[in-house]
Amino acid sequence: MFRNITTERLILRPFTLEDASRIQALAGDRRVSEMTANIPYPYLDGMAESWIREHRRQTKEGHALVYAITMLSSGELAGAISLTEITGHDANLGYWLGVPYWGKGYCTEAARPFLRFCFSELKLPMVYARHLVENQASARVIQKCGFQFIREVHPSGQGKSQILKHYELHNP
Ligand SMILES: CC(C)(COP(=O)(O)OP(=O)(O)OC[C@H]1O[C@@H](n2cnc3c(N)ncnc32)[C@H](O)[C@@H]1OP(=O)(O)O)[C@@H](O)C(=O)NCCC(=O)NCCS
Repeated sequence: MFRNITTERLILRPFTLEDASRIQALAGDRRVSEMTANIPYPYLDGMAESWIREHRRQTKEGHALVYAITMLSSGELAGAISLTEITGHDANLGYWLGVPYWGKGYCTEAARPFLRFCFSELKLPMVYARHLVENQASARVIQKCGFQFIREVHPSGQGKSQILKHYELHNP
């Protein structure tokens, strides 16, 4: 299912186990985890390896597609972009970047061709994305990629109260 995706400044490629320590360093920053539903804090030894193995298994089963976002010029790992919960009808877009890479347009640069690839290769009818109401950077990425706001979601039973905004983008 994988084909590397190259943009003006980035290469999106599969993760390898050698990326684990770098994932831990970048995703282990509280500022990254506090804006996402599924990045733990603290990010302990071994968690990155487990995550890589688990998403590889899900990719083989056709339920996920997870790319490393790397810098074209240096090869350094900057973050991740993914489709998860893939069904025949839709899938969930997710992404994160290490803090030093924020605010430079990298996420949008990765997300646009990633979504084109997912629509053309996976033939998904629709991709949805959700962000915490306070996550304005993610809101902008979603809007710049052309998603349409659908509704607010109030997940229950997670201890802290969270309000998510739910968006959808249909296969052109
Ligand atoms: C969300 C994230 C991936 C965005 O990455 P990025 O490369 O900085 O995104 P881009 O530069 O492509 O776009 C960010 C946009 O948000 C805007 N923005 C950033 N912070 C903002 C803020 N606090 N308030 C309003 N707008 C903000 C930027 O100005 C930019 O918009 P513009 O192009 O109209 O100027 C990054 O902030 C991140 O990893 N956050 C932590 C993890 C996360 O939130 N993941 C998504 C969970 S839904």
